Amino acid sequence: MTSLHVSQHPLVQHKLTLLRDKNTDHRSFRELMRELAILLCYEATQDIHVEPKIVETPMGSASGYKAEETIGVVPVLRAGLGMLEGVMQLLPNVQVWHIGLYRDEKTLLPVQYYNRLPEKTSIQICIILDPMLATGGSAVATIDLLKNVGVDRIKYVGLIAAPEGVDRLSQAHPDVPIYLASLDERLNEVGFIVPGLGDAGDRQFGT
Ligand code: PRP
Repeated sequence: MTSLHVSQHPLVQHKLTLLRDKNTDHRSFRELMRELAILLCYEATQDIHVEPKIVETPMGSASGYKAEETIGVVPVLRAGLGMLEGVMQLLPNVQVWHIGLYRDEKTLLPVQYYNRLPEKTSIQICIILDPMLATGGSAVATIDLLKNVGVDRIKYVGLIAAPEGVDRLSQAHPDVPIYLASLDERLNEVGFIVPGLGDAGDRQFGT
């Protein structure tokens, strides 16, 4: 059974509202995506493994923790790139594996044009970054690729989704938890999320 986490954090909701606004310019849009990615990634990493660690402060010893897991981050080009910088600030030691997919406008099926996954990996956890979960085709294809190289613990971090995409992803990969800022109403007749925010790639890159 998939776990679906839709953030209730007021800052996420505030920033998402600005992101949706059609009057938000490209520069602000990119900055909001970066900030939202940090906030959602913070929520998605609540269960990563830490080991106890003693550290010396200027005043003596303190017991603390060290995050031990090797984390991989997979931005789905293009739109997922806007989430990467913030996540790398939060998790500076991650490995980044780029995947390039675009959605064919007629069939709505994902077409792969770039893949920098390793052939095999011992990585323990992978976080997929893609702001839009529409039909779910791109997310399912990305997870298929990750499982093929041996990643078995995967999390999907998006910004907004249509119910159709959540259903498709959870049926195909029920073991992958989904983290979102919003679950929107529906897909329209051309496969865009409504009310959504338009095309996240175009709005970031001015195309
Ligand atoms: C968008 C989005 C996802 C995909 C979601 O990418 O970033 O990757 O569509 O749609 P799906 O759930 O129906 O597969 P797009 O094809 O617009 O490419 P871009 O990121 O290069 O703009």
